[in-house]
Amino acid sequence: MSELLKVRDLRVRYPVAGGIAAMLDRNRPSYVDVVHGVSLDIARGETLAVVGESGSGKTTLAMALCGLAPVLAGDVRFDGAAMSKARDQHLRPDRRRIALMFQDPVGSLSPRMTVRRLLSEPFRIYSELSQDPDRSVLELLSMVGLSSDFADRYPHQLSGGQARRVCLARALAQKPDLLIADEPTAGLDVSIQGEVLNLLSDLQQELGLGIMIITHNLNIVRHVAEQMAIMYLGRFVEQGLSELVFQHPRHPYTAALLAANPSTNFDVVPERIELTGEIPGLLQRPAGCEFHNRCPRVQPKCRASFPDRQSSNGKQGWNCFHPLP
Ligand SMILES: Nc1ncnc2c1ncn2[C@@H]1O[C@H](COP(=O)(O)OP(=O)(O)OP(=O)(O)O)[C@@H](O)[C@H]1O
Ligand SMILES: [Mg+2]
Repeated sequence: MSELLKVRDLRVRYPVAGGIAAMLDRNRPSYVDVVHGVSLDIARGETLAVVGESGSGKTTLAMALCGLAPVLAGDVRFDGAAMSKARDQHLRPDRRRIALMFQDPVGSLSPRMTVRRLLSEPFRIYSELSQDPDRSVLELLSMVGLSSDFADRYPHQLSGGQARRVCLARALAQKPDLLIADEPTAGLDVSIQGEVLNLLSDLQQELGLGIMIITHNLNIVRHVAEQMAIMYLGRFVEQGLSELVFQHPRHPYTAALLAANPSTNFDVVPERIELTGEIPGLLQRPAGCEFHNRCPRVQPKCRASFPDRQSSNGKQGWNCFHPLP
């Protein structure tokens, strides 16, 4: 499979808003590292699922790749060429070739535009994409399984599943090579989730798209993604072939996430880890391995330094001093 996106050590840092509290507390850092050294590869026709708790930095990673969040450091190559950075440190992707389905589908659709207008907008920006925008809109609707009647509807007249389909059609209008779908099934009934995912994989086959799918939901990962990455406080703590990660998670955090998921069948029974409380705030990033304060396998070393990446055959990698055996 040919390489489409190659990311090495990507970092996103945001300044923290000041205010009186910050002035009084000298120990408070003036920035947060939301994405903290992420590396990933996506080939054409391949899907990578990024999984992690709320606040782990998934959306920020997606935004950075689309040039919508500032990049502190890292190399990003798309289709063989290095992505340059603008002066303000935002990446400059070829916006047409990377499409983003935003996390909030209805919110990302302008309420006063009809579906027809929403779907033909990309053709106004990239006029070379369609000779006949009206016809292209109908083609897009049919690609995502909606009848032509939907062209005259407004976003508030769509169900959650229909809104997802319109967002997908809008993303496809720009004929992307890479689609980043941020929680494309959140808030949908299970049967509708299945429909949206099937649609995504059908279109992927047809168009040879690379896909990065962001999700909380491990059940969908197995169905759609051959590769997966587990994100914790801005880092990928484990990543690799989904099949291997599901069968034999090595990072205790991955094991905990999988164990919390009722329909996961382990080949190796992991120790039961209760993930209690929220992930620590980015403002108090723990020293060493960030998971140490929730980890049942913690050792003194884990509090002192962050473990290097270990891997098996390059098909599964993890950052842990005491991985599951
Ligand atoms: N512009 C910003 N300035 C400062 N902090 C930010 C900014 N954008 C995001 N963050 C912080 O980065 C962290 C990660 O946010 P992000 O939205 O990427 O998480 P997420 O993994 O997508 O979460 P969810 O699963 O809830 O969508 C959060 O703590 C958030 O407050
Ligand atoms: Mg998010």
